[in-house]
Amino acid sequence: MVEAKTVVDATCGNGYDLLYLAERAQPDCHLYGIDIQEQAIESSRALLETHDMTNRIMITFLHSSHDVAFKKDIKEASIDLIVFNLGYLPGGDHRIMTKSHHTIAAIEQALPKLAKDGIITIAVYPGTDEGLQEKEDLESYLCELNQKEYNNCHWKPINQINNPPELYMVQKR
Ligand SMILES: C[S@@+](CC[C@H](N)C(=O)[O-])C[C@H]1O[C@@H](n2cnc3c(N)ncnc32)[C@H](O)[C@@H]1O
Repeated sequence: MVEAKTVVDATCGNGYDLLYLAERAQPDCHLYGIDIQEQAIESSRALLETHDMTNRIMITFLHSSHDVAFKKDIKEASIDLIVFNLGYLPGGDHRIMTKSHHTIAAIEQALPKLAKDGIITIAVYPGTDEGLQEKEDLESYLCELNQKEYNNCHWKPINQINNPPELYMVQKR
C-alpha cells in the first residue's frame, strides 16, 4: 500500500474500505471506487469528501458492475491492490448482492492488469445461502488458477459460530 500507484475498491458500498485505503495511499496513487448502485457511489463520494480525501489523491468513482469496469474503464495495466468486499450494501437493498458470475468475471478481467506481486483480497460472507454459494463458486475458480502464476490462499475462522466472514487472497508471482 505504501508504494501502490493504482488501487481499486471493486465494491465500494458506503465507502469505509475506500476511506481506509485513501488514508494510507501516497499522493500519487490513483484510487478507484466501483459499485453497481448509484446510492453506494454517492455515499462513498460523500464520505471521502468529508474526510478531505478527494483533494489529497486522485479518486475515480465508477457506477458500474465490476466486471464491466475492469474490462472497459480501468486502463492501467499494473494494478497494485484490488479489494472485493462481497455481499449487500449495509443499510441498503439486501436483494442487490454480489453474484459469483460477476465476481469471477471481474477477477478474470483484472488478473492480466494486476502488477507483479500485486494482490487481490476478497472477503466472503458464507452465513447466507447466497453468500455460501458465492464462496464455493469463487473457491472452485481460485483453486484452478495456475500455481506458477499466482499464490492463492484462504483465511477462515475455525472456532466461531454462524459461518463468519472468510478471506481469499490472490498474489501475482
Ligand atoms: C458489503 S458491500 C461493500 C462494503 C463497502 N466496501 C464499505 O466499506 O462500505 C457490497 C457492495 O457490492 C455492491 N455490488 C453488488 N454487485 C456488484 C457488482 N456486480 N459490481 C460492483 N458492485 C457490486 C453492492 O451494491 C454493495 O454496495
